[in-house]
Amino acid sequence: METAEILKILLNEQQIGLGIDRLAMQLKKHYKDNPITIVAIMTGSLVMLADLIRRLEMPVCISLIQASSYRGGTKSGDLLVQDHMMLDIKDRDVLLIDDIFDTGRTLVEVTKRLADMKPKTIRTAVFLNKLGQSVVTAVPDFVVFEIPNEFVVGYGLDYQDLYRNLPFVGVLEDSDLQNHLTA
Ligand code: IMP
Ligand code: MG
Repeated sequence: METAEILKILLNEQQIGLGIDRLAMQLKKHYKDNPITIVAIMTGSLVMLADLIRRLEMPVCISLIQASSYRGGTKSGDLLVQDHMMLDIKDRDVLLIDDIFDTGRTLVEVTKRLADMKPKTIRTAVFLNKLGQSVVTAVPDFVVFEIPNEFVVGYGLDYQDLYRNLPFVGVLEDSDLQNHLTA
């Protein structure tokens, strides 16, 4: 297997930590001591989920849902949603989290699915918002970082299921991606 090269570090560990601190404070302000149910879109939001919940003090339940729009590469495919690991969220205050808001289709589609389950409220939080790429009118309620239109990996984000374990967010070299895009 070819290994793509990290071109540059966009966000280092310290910046990410401060960003998640900031999000936790915003959530505390918004929800106060009320219980929340975090629905995390797998697999990309796994690292953010683990870091965020340890900074929250209100009662927190965790529910997982899987959505994959990228079939191995960097192109958007049909969205596949699997919800067999969902809790019953009826009448709950739900916070849906995802790793990145790119076209916005994933977040909009998953929000629709959750709305069918009749929660009391739904808010959305994303780790990264890729500027200028959205094709939907909805915007996430909470954004940790805005980033330019580059393909990034690390801190949960993958390229062909690799790199999720990097503690920083890095940009993959363009030439590498081009090779895979035409494959
Ligand atoms: P959207 O539906 O176009 O907003 O895409 C969101 C999903 O695409 C995310 O959950 C990611 O899995 C994936 N994605 C979009 N941009 C990137 C990126 O730069 N790196 C890694 N995954 C990405
Ligand atoms: Mg994802």
